[in-house]
Amino acid sequence: MPSQKLLSQLARKHGTPMIVVDHDEVRRNYATFKKYLPRVQAYYAVKAFSDPVIVQTLFEAGASFDVASMPEFRIVYEYVKDMPPKQRQEWIWDKIIYAHPIKAEATLRELDPYKPLVTYDNHEEIRKIKKHAPHAGLALRLKVPNTGAMVELSSKFGAAPGEAVDLILEADKAGLVVEGLSFHVGSQTTNFDNFVQAINLAANIFQEAKDRGYTKMNLLDIGGGFPAPYDATVRPFRELARKINAELDRLFPKDVQILSEPGRFMVATAGTAVSTIIGKAVRDGKLCYYIDDGVYHTFSGILFDHCQYHMKSFKKGPKQICTVFGPTCDALDVVSMSEELPGNLELGDLLYSVNIGAYSSASSTPFNGFPPAKIVHINR
Ligand SMILES: Cc1ncc(COP(=O)(O)O)c(C=O)c1O
Repeated sequence: MPSQKLLSQLARKHGTPMIVVDHDEVRRNYATFKKYLPRVQAYYAVKAFSDPVIVQTLFEAGASFDVASMPEFRIVYEYVKDMPPKQRQEWIWDKIIYAHPIKAEATLRELDPYKPLVTYDNHEEIRKIKKHAPHAGLALRLKVPNTGAMVELSSKFGAAPGEAVDLILEADKAGLVVEGLSFHVGSQTTNFDNFVQAINLAANIFQEAKDRGYTKMNLLDIGGGFPAPYDATVRPFRELARKINAELDRLFPKDVQILSEPGRFMVATAGTAVSTIIGKAVRDGKLCYYIDDGVYHTFSGILFDHCQYHMKSFKKGPKQICTVFGPTCDALDVVSMSEELPGNLELGDLLYSVNIGAYSSASSTPFNGFPPAKIVHINR
């Protein structure tokens, strides 16, 4: 985390609300991922923080990218558009997966000329891809246990294991090529067994597909879900990596390419939000601070990501339990009902929250006309 001195200087220079993105930390997270999962290519899930400067840093570090919309695709495509067509085609497969199992027909039409790798999980999607993006390569998204994940995804996406091979054979019959399987164990998965179970399930589907005559699969995408160290209860990444490596080596020969889609892991710890106290009131005997950032902006992760962030102050003083409200007129705009903060803070004083780089700025909205936090890049 940047020092308090640097955060105050940046707040003075750029104003608040502000998110400071530390690119050294982004690079460190990518390096950690590669160090402990050497066999796994990281396709950064752009949705976690879709700022092009972050994409650039990760691109330079060697990352590939998971995109889930055309605007995200275009952010990444910026880096290949000037390559000679032959290299560009290779690059697209190595560097981008369009990992949204449900795509609008117009999106598929737009994607088709790039001959991308896309995920799917149902009959209707096979029909759509066949009609609108016949040049795409496919990865079947499996439904896997999301037990204990902070954000559960398996009720919205994923083919049940019992229908998986039927969906592979159906796509094959339609003239499409299924390159492999993908899954997502749920975001912020601290239950490492989810990964173990999902890899085993995928191995069984590979085997069943082979038994039923389909031998073209050579790729496994183990998705996102790698937890950020929000608190001491999150066990170290190397422990998770050890389990994943053991299962991959046991169940998948070396010629099967292993992909992943980490979002949160790459950027959560790289973001620090700084806001200013703009109001102060005592309501029903409880001290309430109003700040210039809230759940419609940087703290949107409280609603959309089921994540709670803690606030700290630069100023010292005797602490008490306070409420921290965001700036909008909506009563839902509550950053926290119980933050331990000094009671002597004044209007103009700064508060900050660490580990807020993932799914924060990414889901900010213009409600009520308040401007979003400025994104300030350091160590770029
Ligand atoms: C398809 C897909 N891939 C990757 C991610 C990134 O997951 P995480 O941030 O947990 O690594 C998500 C998050 O929702 C997702 O839906």
